Amino acid sequence: MYVLSGKNIVLGVTAGIAAYKSAFLVRLLVKSGANVKVVMTPSAKEFVTPLTLSTLSKNEVFSSFTNEEDENAQWNNHVELALWANLFIVAPATANTLSKMAAGTCDNLLLAVYLSAKCQVYYAPAMDLDMYKHPSTKETFKKLESFGNIQIPAAHGELASGLVGQGRMAEPEEIISFLEKNLLKKLPLRGKRFLVTAGPTYEAIDPVRFIGNHSSGKMGFAIAEAAADLGAEVTLISGPVSLSVEHSMVELISVTSAKEMYEATHHRFDDCDVAILSAAVADYRPAEISSEKIKKKEGTLVLNLEKTQDILASLGEAKKGQLLVGFALETQNELDNAKTKLKKKNLDLIVLNSLRDKGAGFKTDTNKVTLITKDNKVIPFPVKTKKEVATDILKQILDQIHA
Ligand code: CTP
Repeated sequence: MYVLSGKNIVLGVTAGIAAYKSAFLVRLLVKSGANVKVVMTPSAKEFVTPLTLSTLSKNEVFSSFTNEEDENAQWNNHVELALWANLFIVAPATANTLSKMAAGTCDNLLLAVYLSAKCQVYYAPAMDLDMYKHPSTKETFKKLESFGNIQIPAAHGELASGLVGQGRMAEPEEIISFLEKNLLKKLPLRGKRFLVTAGPTYEAIDPVRFIGNHSSGKMGFAIAEAAADLGAEVTLISGPVSLSVEHSMVELISVTSAKEMYEATHHRFDDCDVAILSAAVADYRPAEISSEKIKKKEGTLVLNLEKTQDILASLGEAKKGQLLVGFALETQNELDNAKTKLKKKNLDLIVLNSLRDKGAGFKTDTNKVTLITKDNKVIPFPVKTKKEVATDILKQILDQIHA
Protein backbone atom coordinates (compact mmCIF):
# COMPACT_ATOMS: atom_id res chain seq x y z
CA MET A 1 0.00 0.00 0.00
CA TYR A 2 1.06 3.59 -0.42
CA VAL A 3 1.51 4.78 3.17
CA LEU A 4 5.03 3.38 3.42
CA SER A 5 6.02 4.69 0.02
CA GLY A 6 8.83 7.23 0.20
CA LYS A 7 9.25 6.81 3.95
CA ASN A 8 12.77 6.62 5.39
CA ILE A 9 12.84 3.62 7.66
CA VAL A 10 15.61 2.55 10.02
CA LEU A 11 15.19 -1.12 10.84
CA GLY A 12 16.91 -2.20 14.05
CA VAL A 13 17.77 -5.89 14.12
CA THR A 14 18.66 -7.51 17.44
CA ALA A 15 20.01 -10.93 18.31
CA GLY A 16 17.04 -13.26 18.27
CA ILE A 17 16.47 -16.28 16.07
CA ALA A 18 13.69 -14.31 14.34
CA ALA A 19 16.46 -12.11 12.87
CA TYR A 20 16.37 -14.40 9.84
CA LYS A 21 12.93 -12.95 9.09
CA SER A 22 14.44 -9.44 8.89
CA ALA A 23 15.57 -10.26 5.38
CA PHE A 24 11.93 -10.77 4.33
CA LEU A 25 10.89 -7.67 6.23
CA VAL A 26 13.49 -5.52 4.46
CA ARG A 27 12.32 -6.90 1.12
CA LEU A 28 8.68 -6.11 1.85
CA LEU A 29 9.50 -2.61 3.09
CA VAL A 30 11.53 -1.88 -0.04
CA LYS A 31 8.73 -3.32 -2.18
CA SER A 32 6.31 -0.94 -0.46
CA GLY A 33 8.44 1.94 -1.70
CA ALA A 34 10.27 2.69 1.57
CA ASN A 35 13.95 3.67 1.81
CA VAL A 36 15.46 1.26 4.31
CA LYS A 37 18.66 1.44 6.35
CA VAL A 38 19.49 -1.38 8.73
CA VAL A 39 21.25 -1.05 12.06
CA MET A 40 22.14 -4.25 13.92
CA THR A 41 23.37 -5.09 17.38
CA PRO A 42 26.79 -6.76 17.15
CA SER A 43 25.40 -10.19 18.13
CA ALA A 44 22.56 -9.97 15.61
CA LYS A 45 25.21 -10.55 12.93
CA GLU A 46 25.46 -14.16 14.17
CA PHE A 47 21.84 -14.73 13.08
CA VAL A 48 21.71 -12.91 9.75
CA THR A 49 24.56 -11.44 7.74
CA PRO A 50 24.92 -7.71 7.09
CA LEU A 51 25.64 -8.65 3.46
CA THR A 52 22.14 -10.13 3.07
CA LEU A 53 20.51 -7.08 4.62
CA SER A 54 22.64 -4.54 2.75
CA THR A 55 21.93 -6.30 -0.56
CA LEU A 56 18.19 -6.30 0.10
CA SER A 57 18.04 -2.76 1.48
CA LYS A 58 20.47 -1.43 -1.15
CA ASN A 59 22.16 0.46 1.67
CA GLU A 60 25.14 -0.02 3.94
CA VAL A 61 24.31 -1.85 7.17
CA PHE A 62 25.55 -0.31 10.43
CA SER A 63 26.41 -2.19 13.59
CA SER A 64 29.15 -0.28 15.39
CA PHE A 65 30.16 3.31 16.01
CA THR A 66 33.09 2.88 13.65
CA ASN A 67 33.57 0.50 10.80
CA GLU A 68 36.19 -1.80 12.41
CA GLU A 69 37.17 -3.67 9.26
CA ASP A 70 37.92 -0.49 7.40
CA GLU A 71 41.43 0.95 7.84
CA ASN A 72 40.10 4.46 7.32
CA ALA A 73 37.48 3.79 9.93
CA GLN A 74 34.66 6.31 9.77
CA TRP A 75 32.38 7.39 12.56
CA ASN A 76 28.86 6.05 11.96
CA ASN A 77 26.82 9.03 12.91
CA HIS A 78 23.92 7.72 15.00
CA VAL A 79 22.30 11.14 15.24
CA GLU A 80 22.26 11.59 11.47
CA LEU A 81 20.82 8.12 11.00
CA ALA A 82 18.15 8.72 13.65
CA LEU A 83 17.14 12.07 12.17
CA TRP A 84 17.02 10.62 8.66
CA ALA A 85 14.35 8.18 9.81
CA ASN A 86 10.62 8.80 9.47
CA LEU A 87 10.07 5.51 11.29
CA PHE A 88 12.31 3.40 13.49
CA ILE A 89 11.32 -0.25 13.72
CA VAL A 90 13.08 -2.70 16.02
CA ALA A 91 12.32 -6.21 14.70
CA PRO A 92 13.11 -8.61 16.15
CA ALA A 93 13.28 -6.86 19.51
CA THR A 94 14.82 -9.09 22.18
CA ALA A 95 14.07 -8.80 25.90
CA ASN A 96 17.64 -7.58 26.39
CA THR A 97 17.42 -4.71 23.88
CA LEU A 98 13.91 -3.73 24.99
CA SER A 99 14.96 -3.48 28.63
CA LYS A 100 17.94 -1.34 27.59
CA MET A 101 15.66 0.89 25.53
CA ALA A 102 13.40 1.30 28.57
CA ALA A 103 16.36 2.05 30.85
CA GLY A 104 18.14 4.43 28.49
CA THR A 105 21.22 2.24 28.24
CA CYS A 106 23.41 3.10 25.30
CA ASP A 107 26.08 0.45 24.80
CA ASN A 108 25.71 -0.13 21.07
CA LEU A 109 24.90 1.80 17.89
CA LEU A 110 21.29 0.57 17.69
CA LEU A 111 20.55 1.92 21.17
CA ALA A 112 22.28 5.20 20.37
CA VAL A 113 20.07 5.54 17.27
CA TYR A 114 17.00 4.74 19.41
CA LEU A 115 17.90 7.42 21.96
CA SER A 116 18.52 9.99 19.22
CA ALA A 117 15.38 9.21 17.22
CA LYS A 118 12.60 11.80 17.16
CA CYS A 119 10.34 9.76 14.90
CA GLN A 120 7.71 7.15 15.76
CA VAL A 121 9.30 3.97 17.15
CA TYR A 122 7.75 0.53 16.66
CA TYR A 123 9.07 -2.71 18.08
CA ALA A 124 8.21 -6.34 17.43
CA PRO A 125 9.10 -8.42 20.48
CA ALA A 126 10.64 -11.85 19.91
CA MET A 127 11.37 -14.04 22.90
CA ASP A 128 10.47 -17.26 24.61
CA LEU A 129 7.02 -17.48 26.26
CA ASP A 130 8.25 -17.32 29.88
CA MET A 131 10.45 -14.33 29.11
CA TYR A 132 7.45 -12.70 27.42
CA LYS A 133 5.30 -13.28 30.50
CA HIS A 134 7.93 -12.19 33.01
CA PRO A 135 6.89 -9.21 35.18
CA SER A 136 10.10 -7.47 34.20
CA THR A 137 9.18 -7.70 30.49
CA LYS A 138 5.68 -6.43 31.26
CA GLU A 139 7.23 -3.47 33.07
CA THR A 140 9.47 -2.84 30.07
CA PHE A 141 6.46 -2.82 27.71
CA LYS A 142 4.67 -0.35 30.00
CA LYS A 143 7.68 1.91 30.12
CA LEU A 144 8.13 1.87 26.35
CA GLU A 145 4.43 2.61 25.91
CA SER A 146 4.83 5.60 28.22
CA PHE A 147 7.60 6.82 25.84
CA GLY A 148 5.11 6.62 22.97
CA ASN A 149 6.74 3.55 21.39
CA ILE A 150 4.27 1.23 19.69
CA GLN A 151 4.37 -2.51 20.13
CA ILE A 152 3.69 -4.84 17.22
CA PRO A 153 2.36 -7.73 19.30
CA ALA A 154 4.10 -11.07 19.23
CA ALA A 155 2.17 -14.02 17.91
CA HIS A 156 1.15 -17.24 19.62
CA GLY A 157 2.74 -20.40 18.26
CA GLU A 158 5.68 -22.74 18.31
CA LEU A 159 8.83 -21.04 19.53
CA ALA A 160 12.48 -21.75 18.74
CA SER A 161 12.77 -23.49 22.14
CA GLY A 162 10.14 -26.01 21.06
CA LEU A 163 7.67 -24.60 23.58
CA VAL A 164 4.33 -23.29 22.42
CA GLY A 165 3.03 -19.89 23.56
CA GLN A 166 3.20 -16.16 22.94
CA GLY A 167 6.53 -14.59 22.06
CA ARG A 168 7.03 -15.37 18.39
CA MET A 169 7.80 -12.29 16.36
CA ALA A 170 4.92 -11.21 14.11
CA GLU A 171 5.44 -12.38 10.53
CA PRO A 172 6.93 -9.76 8.16
CA GLU A 173 3.59 -9.48 6.30
CA GLU A 174 1.81 -8.88 9.60
CA ILE A 175 4.36 -6.23 10.56
CA ILE A 176 3.79 -4.43 7.25
CA SER A 177 0.03 -4.53 7.61
CA PHE A 178 0.28 -3.35 11.24
CA LEU A 179 2.43 -0.40 10.18
CA GLU A 180 0.13 0.52 7.30
CA LYS A 181 -3.00 0.44 9.46
CA ASN A 182 -1.31 2.41 12.20
CA LEU A 183 0.02 5.07 9.83
CA LEU A 184 -3.27 5.32 7.96
CA LYS A 185 -5.14 5.92 11.22
CA LYS A 186 -3.05 9.03 11.82
CA LEU A 187 -3.60 10.62 8.41
CA PRO A 188 -5.56 13.88 8.77
CA LEU A 189 -7.72 13.46 5.65
CA ARG A 190 -8.64 9.84 6.30
CA GLY A 191 -12.32 9.25 5.50
CA LYS A 192 -12.62 12.44 3.42
CA ARG A 193 -13.61 12.30 -0.23
CA PHE A 194 -11.98 14.74 -2.62
CA LEU A 195 -12.93 15.71 -6.14
CA VAL A 196 -10.19 17.40 -8.16
CA THR A 197 -10.28 18.68 -11.75
CA ALA A 198 -7.09 19.12 -13.75
CA GLY A 199 -5.65 19.81 -17.18
CA PRO A 200 -7.12 21.56 -20.19
CA THR A 201 -10.28 20.78 -22.10
CA TYR A 202 -10.34 20.30 -25.87
CA GLU A 203 -13.31 21.69 -27.76
CA ALA A 204 -13.71 20.03 -31.13
CA ILE A 205 -13.92 22.13 -34.30
CA ASP A 206 -14.02 19.16 -36.65
CA PRO A 207 -12.84 15.53 -36.42
CA VAL A 208 -9.15 16.57 -36.38
CA ARG A 209 -9.01 20.05 -34.84
CA PHE A 210 -9.84 21.52 -31.49
CA ILE A 211 -9.57 24.64 -29.33
CA GLY A 212 -7.41 23.94 -26.28
CA ASN A 213 -4.85 25.51 -23.99
CA HIS A 214 -1.37 24.87 -22.58
CA SER A 215 -2.41 23.47 -19.18
CA SER A 216 -0.20 20.48 -18.31
CA GLY A 217 -2.38 19.22 -15.43
CA LYS A 218 0.65 19.20 -13.11
CA MET A 219 -0.96 21.37 -10.43
CA GLY A 220 -4.16 19.30 -10.25
CA PHE A 221 -2.30 15.99 -10.26
CA ALA A 222 -0.02 17.27 -7.47
CA ILE A 223 -3.09 18.27 -5.42
CA ALA A 224 -4.78 14.90 -5.99
CA GLU A 225 -1.69 12.97 -4.92
CA ALA A 226 -0.97 15.20 -1.92
CA ALA A 227 -4.58 14.77 -0.71
CA ALA A 228 -4.31 10.99 -1.13
CA ASP A 229 -0.99 11.03 0.76
CA LEU A 230 -2.91 12.61 3.64
CA GLY A 231 -5.45 9.77 3.56
CA ALA A 232 -8.20 11.18 1.33
CA GLU A 233 -10.05 9.13 -1.27
CA VAL A 234 -9.63 11.16 -4.45
CA THR A 235 -11.46 11.29 -7.75
CA LEU A 236 -9.36 13.17 -10.28
CA ILE A 237 -11.21 14.32 -13.38
CA SER A 238 -8.71 15.37 -15.98
CA GLY A 239 -8.72 16.72 -19.49
CA PRO A 240 -6.14 15.45 -22.01
CA VAL A 241 -2.69 15.38 -20.35
CA SER A 242 0.39 13.21 -20.57
CA LEU A 243 0.51 12.47 -16.84
CA SER A 244 -0.39 9.26 -15.06
CA VAL A 245 -1.40 8.48 -11.49
CA GLU A 246 0.54 5.99 -9.39
CA HIS A 247 -1.41 6.45 -6.17
CA SER A 248 -3.87 3.68 -5.30
CA MET A 249 -6.18 6.17 -3.55
CA VAL A 250 -6.59 8.34 -6.66
CA GLU A 251 -9.16 7.32 -9.24
CA LEU A 252 -8.50 9.00 -12.58
CA ILE A 253 -11.41 9.83 -14.87
CA SER A 254 -10.26 11.10 -18.25
CA VAL A 255 -12.45 13.49 -20.18
CA THR A 256 -11.93 15.66 -23.24
CA SER A 257 -14.40 18.52 -23.45
CA ALA A 258 -15.80 21.03 -20.95
CA LYS A 259 -19.19 19.33 -21.31
CA GLU A 260 -17.74 15.94 -20.38
CA MET A 261 -15.89 17.50 -17.44
CA TYR A 262 -19.09 19.21 -16.30
CA GLU A 263 -21.02 15.94 -16.38
CA ALA A 264 -18.32 13.87 -14.67
CA THR A 265 -17.85 16.50 -11.97
CA HIS A 266 -21.56 16.87 -11.21
CA HIS A 267 -21.96 13.10 -11.14
CA ARG A 268 -19.44 12.92 -8.25
CA PHE A 269 -20.10 16.18 -6.43
CA ASP A 270 -22.86 15.04 -4.05
CA ASP A 271 -20.59 12.37 -2.57
CA CYS A 272 -17.55 14.53 -1.96
CA ASP A 273 -16.46 16.56 1.05
CA VAL A 274 -14.03 18.83 -0.77
CA ALA A 275 -13.90 19.84 -4.44
CA ILE A 276 -10.84 21.57 -5.89
CA LEU A 277 -11.25 22.83 -9.44
CA SER A 278 -7.85 23.48 -10.93
CA ALA A 279 -8.68 22.59 -14.53
CA ALA A 280 -8.21 25.20 -17.24
CA VAL A 281 -11.65 24.74 -18.72
CA ALA A 282 -12.34 26.33 -22.11
CA ASP A 283 -14.74 29.24 -21.69
CA TYR A 284 -15.96 28.90 -25.29
CA ARG A 285 -16.50 26.08 -27.75
CA PRO A 286 -17.45 26.01 -31.44
CA ALA A 287 -21.21 26.39 -31.68
CA GLU A 288 -21.22 23.64 -34.30
CA ILE A 289 -18.81 20.78 -34.75
CA SER A 290 -18.27 19.98 -38.37
CA SER A 291 -18.72 16.26 -38.98
CA GLU A 292 -16.21 16.41 -41.84
CA LYS A 293 -12.73 17.92 -41.85
CA ILE A 294 -13.10 21.61 -42.77
CA LYS A 295 -11.45 22.22 -46.12
CA LYS A 296 -9.14 25.17 -46.77
CA LYS A 297 -10.82 27.94 -48.78
CA GLU A 298 -10.01 31.41 -50.06
CA GLY A 299 -10.38 34.23 -47.50
CA THR A 300 -10.85 34.02 -43.76
CA LEU A 301 -12.62 31.36 -41.76
CA VAL A 302 -15.03 32.51 -39.10
CA LEU A 303 -15.84 30.19 -36.20
CA ASN A 304 -18.92 30.84 -34.14
CA LEU A 305 -18.16 30.19 -30.47
CA GLU A 306 -20.68 29.62 -27.70
CA LYS A 307 -20.07 29.72 -23.97
CA THR A 308 -19.33 26.53 -22.08
CA GLN A 309 -20.91 25.98 -18.69
CA ASP A 310 -18.90 27.32 -15.77
CA ILE A 311 -18.39 24.12 -13.77
CA LEU A 312 -17.10 25.88 -10.69
CA ALA A 313 -19.96 28.37 -10.54
CA SER A 314 -22.51 25.58 -11.04
CA LEU A 315 -21.00 23.64 -8.12
CA GLY A 316 -21.11 26.82 -6.04
CA GLU A 317 -24.87 26.88 -6.65
CA ALA A 318 -25.31 23.16 -6.00
CA LYS A 319 -23.16 22.84 -2.92
CA LYS A 320 -24.58 21.44 0.30
CA GLY A 321 -21.83 21.74 2.86
CA GLN A 322 -18.95 20.75 0.57
CA LEU A 323 -15.82 22.85 0.78
CA LEU A 324 -15.34 24.35 -2.66
CA VAL A 325 -11.98 25.60 -3.92
CA GLY A 326 -11.38 27.41 -7.20
CA PHE A 327 -8.41 28.80 -9.07
CA ALA A 328 -8.03 32.18 -10.63
CA LEU A 329 -5.46 32.92 -13.28
CA GLU A 330 -5.17 36.65 -13.61
CA THR A 331 -3.02 39.15 -15.48
CA GLN A 332 -4.25 42.39 -13.90
CA ASN A 333 -6.09 43.61 -10.75
CA GLU A 334 -5.28 40.13 -9.46
CA LEU A 335 -6.50 40.39 -5.86
CA ASP A 336 -9.71 42.22 -6.66
CA ASN A 337 -10.59 39.89 -9.51
CA ALA A 338 -9.89 36.80 -7.40
CA LYS A 339 -11.98 38.14 -4.51
CA THR A 340 -14.86 38.88 -6.88
CA LYS A 341 -14.64 35.34 -8.31
CA LEU A 342 -14.60 33.84 -4.80
CA LYS A 343 -17.85 35.61 -3.95
CA LYS A 344 -19.58 35.23 -7.29
CA LYS A 345 -18.90 31.49 -7.49
CA ASN A 346 -19.74 30.89 -3.80
CA LEU A 347 -16.29 29.45 -2.94
CA ASP A 348 -14.65 28.74 0.40
CA LEU A 349 -11.14 29.33 -0.91
CA ILE A 350 -9.56 30.62 -4.08
CA VAL A 351 -6.02 30.03 -5.31
CA LEU A 352 -4.73 33.01 -7.21
CA ASN A 353 -1.96 32.66 -9.81
CA SER A 354 -0.71 35.76 -11.49
CA LEU A 355 0.73 35.32 -14.95
CA ARG A 356 2.91 38.34 -14.14
CA ASP A 357 4.81 36.31 -11.53
CA LYS A 358 7.98 34.53 -12.63
CA GLY A 359 7.80 30.81 -11.89
CA ALA A 360 4.00 30.69 -12.12
CA GLY A 361 1.95 29.36 -14.98
CA PHE A 362 1.04 26.45 -17.13
CA LYS A 363 3.95 24.23 -18.09
CA THR A 364 6.36 25.00 -15.27
CA ASP A 365 7.11 22.70 -12.33
CA THR A 366 6.81 25.67 -9.99
CA ASN A 367 4.00 28.00 -9.06
CA LYS A 368 3.51 31.15 -7.05
CA VAL A 369 0.12 31.48 -5.46
CA THR A 370 -1.85 33.60 -3.06
CA LEU A 371 -4.66 31.95 -1.11
CA ILE A 372 -7.76 33.96 -0.33
CA THR A 373 -10.33 32.61 2.09
CA LYS A 374 -14.02 33.42 2.11
CA ASP A 375 -13.50 35.53 5.24
CA ASN A 376 -11.05 37.62 3.23
CA LYS A 377 -7.78 36.33 4.63
CA VAL A 378 -5.04 36.83 2.04
CA ILE A 379 -2.09 34.44 2.34
CA PRO A 380 0.75 35.00 -0.17
CA PHE A 381 3.42 32.35 -0.80
CA PRO A 382 6.82 32.52 -2.51
CA VAL A 383 7.65 30.51 -5.66
CA LYS A 384 7.53 26.81 -4.76
CA THR A 385 7.33 23.49 -6.56
CA LYS A 386 3.80 22.48 -7.53
CA LYS A 387 4.07 19.65 -5.00
CA GLU A 388 4.82 22.16 -2.23
CA VAL A 389 2.03 24.44 -3.41
CA ALA A 390 -0.34 21.45 -3.25
CA THR A 391 0.69 20.87 0.36
CA ASP A 392 0.12 24.55 1.23
CA ILE A 393 -3.36 24.43 -0.29
CA LEU A 394 -4.22 21.24 1.61
CA LYS A 395 -2.93 22.68 4.90
CA GLN A 396 -5.26 25.63 4.41
CA ILE A 397 -8.15 23.26 3.60
CA LEU A 398 -7.40 21.25 6.77
CA ASP A 399 -7.49 24.48 8.79
CA GLN A 400 -10.86 25.37 7.26
CA ILE A 401 -12.26 21.87 7.82
CA HIS A 402 -11.29 22.07 11.50
CA ALA A 403 -12.27 25.71 12.01
N1 CTP B 1 -13.78 27.05 -14.38
C1 CTP B 1 -14.75 26.07 -14.51
N2 CTP B 1 -15.48 26.00 -15.65
C2 CTP B 1 -15.29 26.88 -16.63
C3 CTP B 1 -14.31 27.89 -16.52
C4 CTP B 1 -13.55 27.94 -15.36
O1 CTP B 1 -14.91 25.26 -13.60
N3 CTP B 1 -16.03 26.78 -17.74
C5 CTP B 1 -13.02 27.12 -13.12
C6 CTP B 1 -11.55 26.82 -13.20
O2 CTP B 1 -11.30 25.46 -13.00
C7 CTP B 1 -10.98 27.68 -12.09
C8 CTP B 1 -11.93 28.85 -12.01
O3 CTP B 1 -13.10 28.44 -12.67
O4 CTP B 1 -11.04 27.03 -10.85
C9 CTP B 1 -11.45 30.16 -12.57
O5 CTP B 1 -11.30 30.13 -13.92
P1 CTP B 1 -10.72 31.44 -14.72
O6 CTP B 1 -10.41 31.02 -16.10
O7 CTP B 1 -9.68 32.11 -13.93
O8 CTP B 1 -11.87 32.45 -14.67
P2 CTP B 1 -13.24 32.57 -15.34
O9 CTP B 1 -14.24 32.34 -14.26
O10 CTP B 1 -13.33 31.73 -16.56
O11 CTP B 1 -13.26 34.10 -15.67
P3 CTP B 1 -12.34 34.98 -16.63
O12 CTP B 1 -12.04 34.14 -17.83
O13 CTP B 1 -13.16 36.14 -16.88
O14 CTP B 1 -11.11 35.32 -15.85
